[in-house]
Amino acid sequence: MDSPSRPHFILAIDGVSGSGKSSTAKTVAKQLGILHLDTGAMYRAVTLLALEKRLQPGQIREIETMVEALHWDADSQGKLTVDGRDLSREIRTDRVTAAVSDFARIPEVRHSLVPVQRAIGMRQSAVVEGRDMATVVFPDARFKFFMSASPEVRARRRVMELHSMGLPGDYAQVLANLSERDSKDSGREHSPLSIAADAIEIDTSGLTFDGQVAIIVTHVLKNLA
Ligand code: DC
Repeated sequence: MDSPSRPHFILAIDGVSGSGKSSTAKTVAKQLGILHLDTGAMYRAVTLLALEKRLQPGQIREIETMVEALHWDADSQGKLTVDGRDLSREIRTDRVTAAVSDFARIPEVRHSLVPVQRAIGMRQSAVVEGRDMATVVFPDARFKFFMSASPEVRARRRVMELHSMGLPGDYAQVLANLSERDSKDSGREHSPLSIAADAIEIDTSGLTFDGQVAIIVTHVLKNLA
């Protein structure tokens, strides 16, 4: 938590799908005792809600109206609610995963979510995780990391993650889906996935989970001291 000895700071972690970003960000936040904000979960929640209303990505006005009316909250553990609903499980289904890039690329959706992300990050020190944290949302973040890993390693990890949540996950399908999302996320016009010039890149393909967490935590503690 913020204190005179530990001033407010933002630690941005961007990276490709399945690079280990989410689990790393969560553990780093826990070890540092600060909030974890998973912004991918916000784009997933918008996608789920749009699908529930049978909205297509092309129905920009309807989607914008829906997103503008949403009320977001993050508790001190970083648990997100949207209009009071905890969607953490439903947003991980294949249906949402397959559609999310098409909703996340809509500028009106991004314009609406970015101020919410900034407001949450301003309230308290946070590990903010996504695709454009270091480049667009928090360009002045004190710490910036970019996580990558080979597609095969990433697909294996995603399948394990899905299975651990009791959800089905087929390796070939997961691999195809994440490659497609990568190219959509990198090729889109607004806030494409890119590495900030001042970010530290971590290729996690050959690292253990504890190893990648330690790289970040050690760097942060050394520089905060
Ligand atoms: O990290 P994830 O796989 O849960 O992200 C879900 C989708 O949201 C993915 O297609 C990238 C997109 N996203 C984004 O465009 N900007 C962010 N800050 C976070 C995620």
